Amino acid sequence: MAQLWGGRFTKETDQLVYNFNASISFDQKFYKQDIKGSMAHVRMLAKQGILSEAERDVILAGLQGILADVESGKLVITEEYEDIHSFVEANLIDRIGDPGKKLHTGRSRNDQVALDMKLYTRDEVCAIDGLVRELLVVLQRLMEAHTKTVMPGFTHLQKAQPITLSHHLGAYFEMFKRDRERLSDIYERMNYCPLGAGALAGTTYPLDRTYTAGLLDFAGPTLNSMDSVSDRDYLIELLSALSTIMMHLSRFSEEVIIWNTNEYRFVEIDDAYSTGSSIMPQKKNPDIAELVRGKTGRVYGALVSLLTTMKGLPLAYNKDMQEDKELTFDAIDTVKGCLALFTGMLDTMKFNQAEMAASARNGFTNATDAADYLVNHGVPFRDAHGVIGRLVLYCIEQGKAIEELTLLELKNISPVFEEDLYEAVSMETCVNKRLTLGAPGREMMEQVIGQNRHWLLEHPAL
Ligand code: ARG
Repeated sequence: MAQLWGGRFTKETDQLVYNFNASISFDQKFYKQDIKGSMAHVRMLAKQGILSEAERDVILAGLQGILADVESGKLVITEEYEDIHSFVEANLIDRIGDPGKKLHTGRSRNDQVALDMKLYTRDEVCAIDGLVRELLVVLQRLMEAHTKTVMPGFTHLQKAQPITLSHHLGAYFEMFKRDRERLSDIYERMNYCPLGAGALAGTTYPLDRTYTAGLLDFAGPTLNSMDSVSDRDYLIELLSALSTIMMHLSRFSEEVIIWNTNEYRFVEIDDAYSTGSSIMPQKKNPDIAELVRGKTGRVYGALVSLLTTMKGLPLAYNKDMQEDKELTFDAIDTVKGCLALFTGMLDTMKFNQAEMAASARNGFTNATDAADYLVNHGVPFRDAHGVIGRLVLYCIEQGKAIEELTLLELKNISPVFEEDLYEAVSMETCVNKRLTLGAPGREMMEQVIGQNRHWLLEHPAL
């Protein structure tokens, strides 16, 4: 048991209490941020004359040594310390002696942990943004390649109208674009430095909080010391954004799983991204997509868990807040893994264009266009809807698609049909006549792809 306190205690902490309270098993994840934060704090203390320049330099060298030794494996973070803050401080004192005891001047673990967690998650927000961007780059490439790849668009998972693969993937492009915008908003809002808030009420030392914030690349210091040590909003926002990313990945995964079935055969997942069965030799399973879909639950769980942890907490710091870490770390690691694997799977997936086109042709996805044909020849839409309903029924009886009927068969249902109906209901016409903004028609799709290409250039990773 190595703890930073104990002066006012007359008894040793019970071992079970110590274990229950300790956080080093998980907060060692931000040892780098803890040391970096201490270095900035020490620089500021010296600038303000609270430490001498000599003390500053010996403390900085000590901290640098700890960082290097942890990184090289020479110094192992062990669970004999209560938390990462105690580990670093105790090691510093071992190394440099008395000046090390001045490190914690004008600081509490409350503002220290608030800073460490912010520094850690700020880096992770950037890493996740970079991974979403990589996914967008793959989507962009596929969208450019598939503006002519016709497939059925679905509503209620029933074939509805023909679209293109480019258009379908474009829907996900928009979702992941918004996900990046959310990450960027969160970055902006969280980017204020809590260090200097002390335990809750600031300190009596003349700290220069703006200086420390600048050293750590924050936009500035936070403005209320009680809020500084007890704000976990930014983690809730982040977990919410991560949940939305997972929701998008999970929907996409669900589609990949459906498209990969023997019934659809729209896609073939690369061998490197599939797994087999121990008993059924023919199987090639979409496990990556299933795992991404499955892991969505634990990220939602982290969000609900932290919201619940925070809901009854009086100001300012309460130990409940220590629960923010494992959840957030797990959610971050889960989302990063899912993004990287999903992108790899998508990048190597084969799209079976012939199956997609055949599926679009076989499901009367051009029925709306056949009705529009009648409308363009003077039939009121509601009447046209009824005529095409009868036409589809006839096609089902005959086992034919609309365009496979003879003109005579067509005219038996409505005399308005002429030879040009065939052209009007071809899949290519159905898609390419849809030229409203955001529709799948090739010209419009190319315009949108161009706009998105521009967006990617204007939005490098955070
Ligand atoms: N391990 C603690 C946490 O994660 C650090 C802050 C401890 N502060 C305290 N007053 N006990 O929240």
